Amino acid sequence: MINQMNKVWKRLLFLAVLTAAFALPGASWAAEKPDAVKKDLLEKGKKVYFKRCVWCHGVEGAGDGPSADRLFTRPRNFNQGTFKIRATDSGHLPLESDLVLTVKNGLPGSAMPAWGEVLNEDEIVAVVNFVKTLLVDRNFDDADEEVEVQQFGEMPWKTEAGPLKEQNLFLGVPQEAIDQGREVFIKNKCFECHGGMGRGDGNPTMKDDWGFPIVAADWQQCWNFRGSRRDPYNPFNIVRTISTGLNGTPMPNFREQITVEDRWKIAAFVNSLCPRKKIDKLTNKPINDFLISSMYTKEAVAKKIDDPMWQAPDDDPKLVKRAKDYPGTLNKKHYIGMAGQITRGDRNFKPKVDNLWVSSRWNPEEKAVYYLVEYHNRFLPTTPEFPEGVAIQWPSKLQDLYGAEKPYFIYGDSKKPVDVWKAVLLPKDYNPTAPPKDDGFQLDVHVEELNGAGFDKVEKKKTPPTVEIVDSVFKQGRVKILFRRSLETANKDTDVQIPSEKFIPVSFMQWSGVNKEKNEHMAISTWYYTILEPTIPDSIYYMPPIMAVTFLVLEGWLVWMTKRTRRMYDEGKVN
Ligand code: HEC
Ligand code: HEC
Repeated sequence: MINQMNKVWKRLLFLAVLTAAFALPGASWAAEKPDAVKKDLLEKGKKVYFKRCVWCHGVEGAGDGPSADRLFTRPRNFNQGTFKIRATDSGHLPLESDLVLTVKNGLPGSAMPAWGEVLNEDEIVAVVNFVKTLLVDRNFDDADEEVEVQQFGEMPWKTEAGPLKEQNLFLGVPQEAIDQGREVFIKNKCFECHGGMGRGDGNPTMKDDWGFPIVAADWQQCWNFRGSRRDPYNPFNIVRTISTGLNGTPMPNFREQITVEDRWKIAAFVNSLCPRKKIDKLTNKPINDFLISSMYTKEAVAKKIDDPMWQAPDDDPKLVKRAKDYPGTLNKKHYIGMAGQITRGDRNFKPKVDNLWVSSRWNPEEKAVYYLVEYHNRFLPTTPEFPEGVAIQWPSKLQDLYGAEKPYFIYGDSKKPVDVWKAVLLPKDYNPTAPPKDDGFQLDVHVEELNGAGFDKVEKKKTPPTVEIVDSVFKQGRVKILFRRSLETANKDTDVQIPSEKFIPVSFMQWSGVNKEKNEHMAISTWYYTILEPTIPDSIYYMPPIMAVTFLVLEGWLVWMTKRTRRMYDEGKVN
C-alpha cells in the first residue's frame, strides 16, 4: 500500500518537476538512473554490515538496533530510502558516491561514526551496496527512479588555509560576500528555523519524517553539521545543503529561490559564524583547551558580562586574529568538550550541550577570581522541576593532592573530596516560542555549593555562601554566567583555597532542563587545569615557556585519555 502510494506520489513529483523545468528557461534538467546495486559485492557488504552497523541500524535496517533508543538523533531507518546528505535533488535517492562519503566521514553531531578510520575503501563500497538492498518502500533498481544531480558551481574566492597544514580554515572570504550573504539569509527567512544569530533556536516544535523532534543546525558549531564531511570550514558543504535540502527533515532546498551565485554568498555568511578552532581528527570536534588561564587583571574586574573586558571571539587567537573587533585587553575563551555521564546511575547518552566556553580573570587586590561560563542551548526550561544548571568542580583539599593527582571526576571520592559551585537557573518571562529580545532574557539564578566525597555522597554545605553569580543572561541560544569567589574562605575544610601561579584541577558539569537532565543525568567534562597568571610583570616572560612545557606533557596525556574514551564510546564498548 505504502509502496503504491509512494509510486503515485513519485510520478506526480516527477511531473511537477518536469513542468517546472520547462517553465523555467535555462534550468538545467539532467535526469539519470540511480546507481544500480552491485550484486557481486553483497556478500562482502552483508558481512561488514552485521559486524559494524547492525548495532544501531538493526537487522533489517529499520534503525532499531540495540543501541537505537539511547541515541539522538536516532540511527537511520533505511527502509524508506530517505538520505540526508546527497548531491541529488530533494526527495531523490542519493548517488553511490554520496553514501560512500557518508560512511567514510560519518555524520558529525550524531552517533554515526566515521568508518574511514576502521574500514577500507572496498569494504565501504560493499557495505553501501548492501545498505541499498535494505530499502523497502523504494528500490535503487526501480525503472521509475530518477535522480537529478545538482549544479553547485565553483567557490568564487581564493581562500587562505591558515597556519595549520592539516586543516583548511577557509579564511579570507571577502567581507562583501559575507555581508551580501547575510542579506540573502534575511530575505529567505532562514532565521525562522535557525534563529537570528544562527544558533538553531528559531523553532522548538519541528519533527522529522519519522515523527521524532528535530532542531535546526547551530551554524556556530559547524563541526556538528551532518554533511560537514570532516571538513567543517568548507563552504561547499553548505552550498550543497542549501541546494539539495536534507531529505526526511524540515530543511528545504532553495534551488529555485536562490541562484547558485547567491548560495555561495549565503554559505560565506553561515561559514563566517563558525569559530576557527583546531579540529581533532578522531572526534571531529575542536581540541579542548586544557589549560584555562585566569588573566591577571590590574584594574577592577568588570561585573557586567557585556563589559568590553569580557568580550572575545570564540576563535583560537593562534589561528585567526579578529582582535580588532574586540576592545580592551583580549580575553581568551577556552573550549571545553562535554560528554554525557554514562558510568553511573541515571546515565545520559544524549546530552543537549556538548561544549562550554570558559574565560577567567582575577584581581589580587580584591583577592577574588571570576569565571565566565558560556554555552549554547537552543531552548531553556520554563518549569522549576527541571531547571537549567552549570557547575564548576574543584578538589576541596587542593593542599592534600600530590603531583597530578585528581579526585574521581564525578563528585570526587572519600580520600579526595570535591567542592562544587552549581548555578541553578530559570529564564524570566520566557517561553521557547517567544520572539528574541534585544537584551536577551534575564535569569533567576541561585548558587548551590556542594561537597562531594563520592557519587552517592553529595551534600549541600552548611557554611555561609561564598560563591556569587554577579551577572547572567540568555540571549538567542547562548547562556552566559559569571561566577565570582574570593581566593580564600573561612571554611578551609570544605572550600577550595585558590592559590596563584599553580595548576589547579577543575572540571565542569551541565544540566539541560528541556532535556529533563537532573542530578547524575548530566553532561560532564574531564579534569582541566586552571592557573591564576602571575602578577609580577617579569614572570610574564619566564612563566609561559615553563607553563608550556609542563602543560604539553599533561595535555598529551589528557588528549590520549579523551580519545580513548571517545573511541570506546564510538565503537560501542562503553555502554
Ligand atoms: C553507533 C551507532 C551507529 C553505527 C554503528 C552506524 N551508524 Fe549509520 N547512522 C547512525 C545514526 C545516528 C544515523 C542518523 C544521523 C542523522 O540522521 O542525523 C546514521 C545514518 C546513516 C546513514 C544515512 C546517511 C544520510 O545521508 O542520511 C547511512 C547511509 C549509514 N548510517 C550507514 C552506516 C553504515 C554502513 C554503518 C556500518 C559500517 C553504520 N551506519 C553504522 C548511527 C550509526
Ligand atoms: C523550515 C525550517 C528550516 C529553514 C527555513 C531552513 N533550515 Fe536549515 N536546517 C533545518 C533543520 C531542521 C536542520 C537540521 C537537520 C538535521 O539535523 O538533520 C537544518 C540544517 C541546516 C544546515 C546544516 C546541514 C548539515 O550538514 O547538517 C545548514 C548549513 C542549513 N540548515 C542552512 C540553511 C540556510 C542557509 C537556510 C536559509 C536559506 C536554511 N537552512 C533554512 C531547518 C531549516
